[in-house]
Amino acid sequence: MSVNPSIQDQQTVSRGAVAVIGAGVIGQSWVTLFAAHGFSVAVQDPRPDLAEVLDAALAEWLPQVPGLVDDPARARARVQVAATVEEAVTGVRAVQEAGPETVDFKRDLWARVEAATPAEALLLSSSSGIVASDQAAAMTDPSRLVIGHPFNPPHVLPLIEVSAASGTPQQRIDRALAFYREVGKHPVQLHRESAGFVANRLQMALVMEAIRLVRAGVVDVRDLDDIVTHSLGIRWAAVGPLLAFHLGGGPGGLGHLLEHIGKGLAADIGQQLSDEDITAVGRAAAEAYPYDRFPAYRETRDALQSAIIAEREAHPLPS
Ligand SMILES: NC(=O)c1ccc[n+]([C@@H]2O[C@H](COP(=O)([O-])OP(=O)(O)OC[C@H]3O[C@@H](n4cnc5c(N)ncnc54)[C@H](O)[C@@H]3O)[C@@H](O)[C@H]2O)c1
Repeated sequence: MSVNPSIQDQQTVSRGAVAVIGAGVIGQSWVTLFAAHGFSVAVQDPRPDLAEVLDAALAEWLPQVPGLVDDPARARARVQVAATVEEAVTGVRAVQEAGPETVDFKRDLWARVEAATPAEALLLSSSSGIVASDQAAAMTDPSRLVIGHPFNPPHVLPLIEVSAASGTPQQRIDRALAFYREVGKHPVQLHRESAGFVANRLQMALVMEAIRLVRAGVVDVRDLDDIVTHSLGIRWAAVGPLLAFHLGGGPGGLGHLLEHIGKGLAADIGQQLSDEDITAVGRAAAEAYPYDRFPAYRETRDALQSAIIAEREAHPLPS
């Protein structure tokens, strides 16, 4: 395994122990992230090839972790396979679940984990869309469970959506947010439970429309992807969809743009944009992004967009 020279001389880092339950696509990536950031990681998964897949994932991915804080060989040595859930979660600071996406699996698991972990341990689910209150139904204290939904692969992409059932102490959610910041992530707390959370709802709205356009013969698969990676993808990596439209609206901001262009574009996809929606979201955007900051937002947007375009040219997608 190659060693990043910038971290060769550093001391071994130790941040305590975490458990990862489920070592598929997402679990292997979490293991990589936590080990890279100095945690001892106990991994539990019934798959017979567990040790082999962990070896392969860690060899390939550890050197890629942004902000890697320890030497990959030392990080690899901190990963252990556990025979049972109970063995994995004993004495840990946090449990990151990444098992099958079924309510039954998660409900059963959290009841077992709750009984076997210290009361202060963070219990975190990677679920793509099953809300905490559904998963925690068999727990004695359902407010112990917090969603920590990553984007694939979590050892690279920064976002973690953090969400919990109503009644969960904010202090517990704050500890989850701090935990994810400790491993270099960008956690965002959602205000309410929402099936599919936020990022996957946005993603699926776009993907469903993409499927409709391909099926209707408007565009083929490669060209559809090209359209996104040469426009929306670049723009949204820089500023996000609401600030992008806000800047596009000039002095009238998002409200003006939605009135002027948005109503017609919404009608094109069979949706209706009401005056109430335009007023409410226009006002919220004006508060979030004041007009006197527009030149600074534009400068940042365009610097980032230019950087992404240059990087794309340096890394063309293999044909
Ligand atoms: N794949 C993604 O893009 C993605 C992104 C974000 C979140 N997630 C979420 O992460 C979780 C894992 O998804 P994935 O894509 O890694 O799935 P996966 O199918 O690749 O992995 C699931 C793993 O769970 C293991 N497993 C099965 N039964 C188990 C048990 N009883 N105890 C422990 N482990 C068990 C399987 O052996 C497998 O290795 C899901 O909740 C999913 O919604 C997935």
